[in-house]
Amino acid sequence: MIVYKAENKEDAGRIVGNILSAQIVTKPESVLGLATGSTPETAYERMVKLYEQGDVDYSKVKTVNLDEYKGLSGDDSRSYRFFMNEKLFNRVNIDKSNTYLPDGTESDSETACTDYDAIIEGLGGIDIQLLGLGCNGHIGFNEPAEYFSLSTQCVDLAESTISANSRFFSGADEVPRQAYTMGIGTIMRAERVLLMVTGENKRDILVRALNGEVTPRLPASILRFHKNLILVGDKDALGENF
Ligand code: GLP
Repeated sequence: MIVYKAENKEDAGRIVGNILSAQIVTKPESVLGLATGSTPETAYERMVKLYEQGDVDYSKVKTVNLDEYKGLSGDDSRSYRFFMNEKLFNRVNIDKSNTYLPDGTESDSETACTDYDAIIEGLGGIDIQLLGLGCNGHIGFNEPAEYFSLSTQCVDLAESTISANSRFFSGADEVPRQAYTMGIGTIMRAERVLLMVTGENKRDILVRALNGEVTPRLPASILRFHKNLILVGDKDALGENF
């Protein structure tokens, strides 16, 4: 595991944005695995800045996102498709038809999941997968469970996740109860995994994930088995533990 210790959230975003941009520069047709949530926002700002400076060309890049709420369409401002368009896709020269998320409008879970796995498979896998970390150790929307998921699945969101994500909605009641998420098996097959963690509130779960027992009860703990894990955290999240 390579660890980058950043000063703060902005600095962590600069490092993550640099790594993802360098991936594109060295392999213009890269498949990037992308993430949502507050954590990666500063990374996307950095990527946009480097694009605006003329340093990165997204014309051949393809992206797959980790997850999407079941029941939300891309026009819904709370959907992850909307988030990605706003934060990155509308601001760089990527072809939107090369950007993929699970289809939140597909009511048949089996279809949504098999379709998404076929898309990822068709792209030939993921060069680098960006991940945030949920407060209960979830990655994507892979919640604590009895087993590690292999492929895309429809999950029931944990109460703690609904409550944490209610800040993006007008209240917890508005948060969809289910989501489609890329499986942990797919995440683990990415060439590189880039875990971005900021804030003191993530410190305990990060330590348990990377220094404790590997268990599906703490999904991020499997990342310790990844061959190329890069951890970018700020001082608040890393403390003296890494
Ligand atoms: C959501 C997303 C995750 C993300 C997590 C943490 O549940 N599905 O991919 O990592 O939130 O979000 P934040 O970065 O806002 O703490």
